[in-house]
Amino acid sequence: MDTTQVLPLLGGLSPQLFMKRHWQKKPLLVRQAAPHFKPLLSRVELFDLAASEDAQTRLVIQQPGKLPGWRLRQGPFQRKALPPLKQPGWTILVQGVDLHIESVHQLMNQFRFVPDARLDDLMISFATDGGGVGPHCDSYDVFLLQAHGRRRWRIGRPKDLSLQPDVPLKILSHFVPEQEFVLEPGDMLYLPPGYAHDGIAEGECMTYSIGFRIPSKAELARELLQRVAEHAEDQVGLSLYRDPRQPAVNQAAEIPPKMLEFATQAVQQALQNPHTLARGLGEYLTEPKPNVWFDTQVLPESDKQIKGLGVRLDRRSKMMFDARHIFINGESFTASAKDAALMRSLANQRFLDAKDFGRLSAQASDLVQGWAQAGWLHGF
Ligand code: SIN
Ligand code: CO
Repeated sequence: MDTTQVLPLLGGLSPQLFMKRHWQKKPLLVRQAAPHFKPLLSRVELFDLAASEDAQTRLVIQQPGKLPGWRLRQGPFQRKALPPLKQPGWTILVQGVDLHIESVHQLMNQFRFVPDARLDDLMISFATDGGGVGPHCDSYDVFLLQAHGRRRWRIGRPKDLSLQPDVPLKILSHFVPEQEFVLEPGDMLYLPPGYAHDGIAEGECMTYSIGFRIPSKAELARELLQRVAEHAEDQVGLSLYRDPRQPAVNQAAEIPPKMLEFATQAVQQALQNPHTLARGLGEYLTEPKPNVWFDTQVLPESDKQIKGLGVRLDRRSKMMFDARHIFINGESFTASAKDAALMRSLANQRFLDAKDFGRLSAQASDLVQGWAQAGWLHGF
């Protein structure tokens, strides 16, 4: 992607300028970010997805006059389990629609001026008149693209983060809006993390939220240390604690300080090789989401060769790289300089044409063949 080229999607800003001026800093309202936008799936198709076990779905129902005023339920939901369309004030939110619908995945790809390591998913909400999830803050950046109908957004820098008590949703107690916009289909609002917002449907409405992954230090420490632990033997060997100078003790319960020293050394040694952490990070970031299953391709012998074809990553595949490794769906590889360049190109473009695929070494080509059989990519 040419990051200096101005985009209607960003209101005439280039990705470079957008990242510099707005990303993680301040909101941006873009009128007609996606001109003449038509919803990529109908209400019925969204409800079908909400009924499937594969999608993560929530239903939020406002109950005015009843305490606590809000009801939250987790899906899946059969159509008949949803409130009637003429009942105002309810919203259904379907997470990860990009994993299911190719055109939604393509739409999300337009935001790949942000690294894949940060892009999370595209959520679609459907609301009846007056529906919304209440004033709240999200911990991640979000692009809110209006897909159908109108939604009134009120936004403001949060001054008081206290939440309404006894409500099943995180709703701010004292929301003070500073700006207000009504979004029409194709309009988009970018909000940085922690910016308070409240979107209320004006008539039936569908909103697409492009959300970002914002890992915490604690999460990364847990995930990476677990992976370091799995490879501990390779990093530190099997040397055993020895204590030929251990004196006799009269406080048998005390842990010998030498043992703490030995343990500290072991952990430091396990973390010493920076490649171990880099590998763990890439494997973690490309781990498929828990609800993702690939369809293994049992290719007949005659079809086994995808050679001569181009290859395209399955939309559910996550592929990234760093200076040393190639990662795909939680696995890591190293490759020769030429193969690595081609693999990086596959990760960036999400396809390799037949000519480039043909340039891979026999070993790398076999690897890609294995990925095709795992359903991670497909010939075209
Ligand atoms: C919605 O689409 O209803 C909620 C999106 C959000 O506030 O983040
Ligand atoms: Co939000």
